[in-house]
Amino acid sequence: MTPRPTLNITSQLHEYVLAHSKKPDAVQRSLIEETARATGNAATMQVAPDQGAFLTLLARIMGARYAVEVGTFTGYSSLAIARGLADGGHMLCCDVSEEWTAIARKHWDMGGVSDRIELRIGPARQTLESLPRDEIIDLSFIDADKESYIDYWEALVPRTRPGGVVLADNTLWKGRVVPGEDPDHNPMTEHIDAFNNHVAADPRVDAVVLTVADGLTMAVKK
Ligand SMILES: C[S@@+](CC[C@H](N)C(=O)[O-])C[C@H]1O[C@@H](n2cnc3c(N)ncnc32)[C@H](O)[C@@H]1O
Repeated sequence: MTPRPTLNITSQLHEYVLAHSKKPDAVQRSLIEETARATGNAATMQVAPDQGAFLTLLARIMGARYAVEVGTFTGYSSLAIARGLADGGHMLCCDVSEEWTAIARKHWDMGGVSDRIELRIGPARQTLESLPRDEIIDLSFIDADKESYIDYWEALVPRTRPGGVVLADNTLWKGRVVPGEDPDHNPMTEHIDAFNNHVAADPRVDAVVLTVADGLTMAVKK
């Protein structure tokens, strides 16, 4: 069977997507502006507004009560997830940067979700290993150092409840995961490709790679 071609998302088409998706509110716009001002080139690490909208809607439809994020940066994705949590829900955020997460804390305050979020500064691998090994997580989002994606996956999947969701960002790596599309042989491409193979072969989940932003893997625990 010949697969149907997927859309080529041009900048104009992405603008169209944003114009027809839930728009960033004043807090999110402030976060986008402050991230651009304060972090320079690193601002490209921030998830796109359509991804943020997706995270909020997914958390909401799942009725998520406990979420974990690996890679918080200035807080756009965590703000989005926290907004979708069920009443009484909470989330754990992992990052190594006090500086970047200070911007996150400010905007969690502005968005009225600070009381739902615990931030732990330190290598995420250690933070995740310190969690109980029970199936307590409803939703997690992996968006930190690419070389550790498989380790984060292995820490999160056993702690995810059946029916819970593990998401991972940047899994298409600007299309370079396709054989022959990364002439420089960037090690990051190999890490992402290894992660994608790992997920596809994992019998504990059903997974799909969504062509959202830079590729968003969504895996549901069986
Ligand atoms: C792509 S950014 C996350 C973007 C964020 N999800 C957002 O919506 O803005 C990656 C983050 O991972 C953090 N990071 C890198 N290595 C880490 C590690 N070993 N443990 C925890 N966080 C790490 C970086 O400090 C950075 O803030």
